[in-house]
Amino acid sequence: MSTAALASDMRTLKVKIKRYNPELDEAPHWEEYTTEADPLDRVLDVIQKVKWYQDETLALRRSCAHGVCGSDAMRINGVNALACKILVRNVKGDTLTLEPILGLPVIKDLIVDMKPFFDHYKSVMPFLINDEPAPTTERLQSPADRARFDETTKCILCACCTTACPPFWSDNKYVGPAAIVNAHRFIFDSRDRGAQERLDILNDAEGVWRCRTVFNCTSACPRDIKVTQAISEVKRALLGGSIEMDRDPLQIIEA
Ligand code: SF4
Ligand code: SF4
Ligand code: FES
Repeated sequence: MSTAALASDMRTLKVKIKRYNPELDEAPHWEEYTTEADPLDRVLDVIQKVKWYQDETLALRRSCAHGVCGSDAMRINGVNALACKILVRNVKGDTLTLEPILGLPVIKDLIVDMKPFFDHYKSVMPFLINDEPAPTTERLQSPADRARFDETTKCILCACCTTACPPFWSDNKYVGPAAIVNAHRFIFDSRDRGAQERLDILNDAEGVWRCRTVFNCTSACPRDIKVTQAISEVKRALLGGSIEMDRDPLQIIEA
């Protein structure tokens, strides 16, 4: 392809960013920038272009730039996503609207305070609990038992789900979908012995029953985790007092 053809693919984007510097601003406000973008640029590239060439005071959080670390979650044209996973060619219209994720305190511009989110995560004890004497080899597990919680191991703690959840917006004491996903990862692990303790925590007024099954969390997850299904499985375990599976998890993975 010639350079001229490549140049003609460039798009002019109006980039509207919600800015807030608590040291200078009384309230958040919008600022607008105009920039050229290649259809194959990621939204993260566009933001960095604005920061590097137009306004170095713009604050954002990012690390891996490849959808792994989960640090650049933000609202992109009103929808929670990782800026490094959305291509410019998938942005509808000529305006890119960027805001911090909702429900967490804004530190500056697109950066939120993740502490309340991680406090909820820690509250469900997201680590293996097993006080039985350690075997001389690994703690063995069948492929079917491993598959039982495979989906929820994929979480990268980006907070896209929790900050897309209306019950969390109205009450940030609600533990939120990400914490439940990470509780699920251990509740259904056959090697773990802390399932009942975690279920008791999630049976609290601020636990799973705050979920209204709106599915915002599942749509928001950049790892395609079936978040609402994981929450339903935890609810079923609480109602039925069982962590057994209705169907063979290996068949579900292959379906
Ligand atoms: S399904 Fe539940 S946890 Fe997910 S967004 Fe809706 S209310 Fe929140
Ligand atoms: S479940 Fe998905 S959206 Fe929620 S924190 Fe984990 S990776 Fe992010
Ligand atoms: S920067 Fe790491 S997920 Fe986007």
